[in-house]
Parts: sequence; C-alpha cells; structure tokens
Amino acid sequence: AAEGDPAILEVKPWNQYLGPGVEAAPYGVPSPYESHVVRRDVAWLTASTESSVNFTPIHELDGIITPNGLCFERHHAGVAEIDPAEHRLMINGLVETPLVFTMADLMRFPRENRIYFLECAANSGMEWRGAQLNGCQYTHGMLHCVMYTGVKLSTLLEEAGLRSSAAWVLPEGADASLMTRSVPLEKAMDDCLVAFRMNGEALRPEQGYPLRLVVPGWEGNMWVKWLRRLEVGDKPWQQREETSKYTDLLTNGKARRFTWVMDVKSVITSPSPQKPVGHGPGPMVISGIAWSGNGRVTRVDVSIDGGRNWRSARIDGPSLSKALHRFYLDIDWDGSELFLQSRAMDEAGVVQPTKDVLRAARGDNSIYHNNGIQTWHIKSDGSAENVEIS
Ligand code: MTE
Ligand code: CO
Repeated sequence: AAEGDPAILEVKPWNQYLGPGVEAAPYGVPSPYESHVVRRDVAWLTASTESSVNFTPIHELDGIITPNGLCFERHHAGVAEIDPAEHRLMINGLVETPLVFTMADLMRFPRENRIYFLECAANSGMEWRGAQLNGCQYTHGMLHCVMYTGVKLSTLLEEAGLRSSAAWVLPEGADASLMTRSVPLEKAMDDCLVAFRMNGEALRPEQGYPLRLVVPGWEGNMWVKWLRRLEVGDKPWQQREETSKYTDLLTNGKARRFTWVMDVKSVITSPSPQKPVGHGPGPMVISGIAWSGNGRVTRVDVSIDGGRNWRSARIDGPSLSKALHRFYLDIDWDGSELFLQSRAMDEAGVVQPTKDVLRAARGDNSIYHNNGIQTWHIKSDGSAENVEIS
C-alpha cells in the first residue's frame, strides 16, 4: 500500500476523452469487459449447428432473470425469421368455430405477465453416466427464466369454443421442423400462455418471434416456438417428440412416456469450474439457482463436505411458482478443499435426489429428466472440477 494504488493515482484514458453520445448505441450492448459472458455450444454434441443447442452462461449471472440475449437456444431446424405481418395463428379440430388470428388480433385479448423458467428435458443429460462436462453452463445451462407477456391459452380456446370430446391440444411451430407436441387439455386450460414478449420486449427470433407457447413447469420441448397452429383433439397424436424422443428407457425394457413436469432441481453457479474462487481464505459467497415444475422452491440446503452435513441457504429475491429461485450461503472459507452440493425442496414436499438414487430408479439408459444433486470439487487453489460422489 506504500506504493499507492495506480488505479487511484494514475490518470486513466477515460478521464480524458469526450465519450460516445446518446445516439451511439440505440440498442445497448454490455461492456466489452463482459465479452466472455456469452452462450456457448459444444461442437461434438450434435451433427450440425442448426439442429443443436447452446447454453446459458448461468455461472456469470445473478438474480433470477435471464437477459434475453443470453437465453439458451434449442432448435431442430435453425432459427425461423418470421415477418409478423405474415404470421397467423390457427385454431382447428374439435372446436365450435375454427379461427385464424393475426398478430394484431391477438393484441386485443386481455394479457398477463408471468415469470417462468424453461428447462430442456435434456438438461444435465450428459451426466447420467457420470461427471462429464466441466462447468454449470454445460451441465445445467439448458435453462432460462424470463417474464412473458401473452394471452392465456384458455382465452383463445374458449373464443373458438371447445367441443365436449376435446381432451388434447397439439401446438405446431412454423419453422421447418414443424415441432408438434400433445398437451393435455387440463394443462392447456390451466396456466399456459401464448406469449409475444419476453422481459418486456418482443420475443427474440431464437425464442420463437413473433409467438411461442409457454407451458409452465413442463419440459422445454413442449414450449413450441414460432407457434402457428393449435389443433384440438380427443387423444394424443403420438408425434416423434413424444415417442422416439423425450421418453426414458428403463432397465426392464419399458419406457416412461409423457413425463412432462420438470422435477425439483438446483445447482451452485459460483464457485464452479468456470467460476473458480478468485480470493484467499475468508468470506466466500456461495451462490446458486433452484427451480421446480411443481411450484415454489421452499428450501435449499448446501453442503461443503460432499453431502455429509447440510446448512440451509438463504433464498433471496422473489419466490415465484415455476420460476428460478436465487440462493446464497455466506461462509468463512478456511482455504481447504470443498465438495460443494446443493439440494432443493419444493412446495409439493419433493426433495432433489442424489444421482445414485435416480439411477437406482431409472437405470442408466436415460438422457432426460436428470435432476440429481451436482458436486463441484473446489481445491485449495480455488480451481473447481465437476465430480461425482457415491
Ligand atoms: N419449437 C419449435 N418450433 N422448434 C424447435 O426446434 N425446440 C424445443 C422447444 N420449442 C423447438 C421448439 C425444445 S427441445 C426446447 S428445449 C425449447 O423450445 C427451447 O426454447 P429456447 O430455444 O427458447 O431456449
Ligand atoms: Co429441449
């Protein structure tokens, strides 16, 4: 300290120039010093980038809202760039009056604002067979949480009038993959939204501009983007995405199907392999996110010794049903190695299981619905690694 801190003593360039004016960035972007905070993909994971996925940098974020430009993208035929003036939403099938809406028509229905997480059923899928990917961006980053503005799906279905035999709804996307999933009418009439805004602005093209289905708490695959049609039927359609995909082959040769709800889950985002400890012993903020398709997260426990002892973490920020929850555990680090784990519990009383418990119940043929407890091995130099403890 005798030398003095150059950050204080030196005259910096930014003390001396006239900075860019208010017209320079009509749509703002983050500081260049934050350029490492980006979605990333794993090149070897899929055969092509158009039918692929990138991951939200959850290790760099805080709070519960994901910035639009960082929401992970999963598409089966690339991003459809749709002119909203030429976009239509059709309702057909077992309805009294088949209807076609323009975007302008949809703007005249009563709206709702809701904050929900979206998790791809394949999130953490690589980890079924053991610790694989070194960072929560890759192990848990098929996840985002934004505020949607939209019309209740039930409002639109009631406008068309449901026939008495109506029991299922088939949303269809306008992209080249023609994504379709069977949604039970009970869910469609409960809390689904036909959304046109995320975090206040129009949906981003990669999130389904100009229209997407929001299916709160249920697997991301059902949240059809570029939504153009809703067919009402009396039984499920048995589409590819609910037969060959998004099913879980059990050890007895049978497969679980229609596993819609995303179970209670959590992960420590900092410290983590991409976010090593950058300081010595003393105060350390352990932070993470928790969520459940059943509703609110009521409790998160954190262990620093690989699950032997648990302490209740502090949930800070809004605690909303089917939204991310932010938790913290503030510890005094003695500088020794840690085995960090988090374990969430939801309002249905469901507790996040260990990966061993999951494998005992479901075998190891699965990809989807891995909500097992994650372990980060923090070494005394502050670096971190994805490990598993049995
Ligand atoms: N909708 C259409 N039309 N096409 C798609 O490829 N992918 C689905 C779903 N909806 C998809 C789609 C999958 S598998 C997921 S996980 C979510 O969209 C991802 O939503 P996001 O790209 O906004 O993160
Ligand atoms: Co998905």
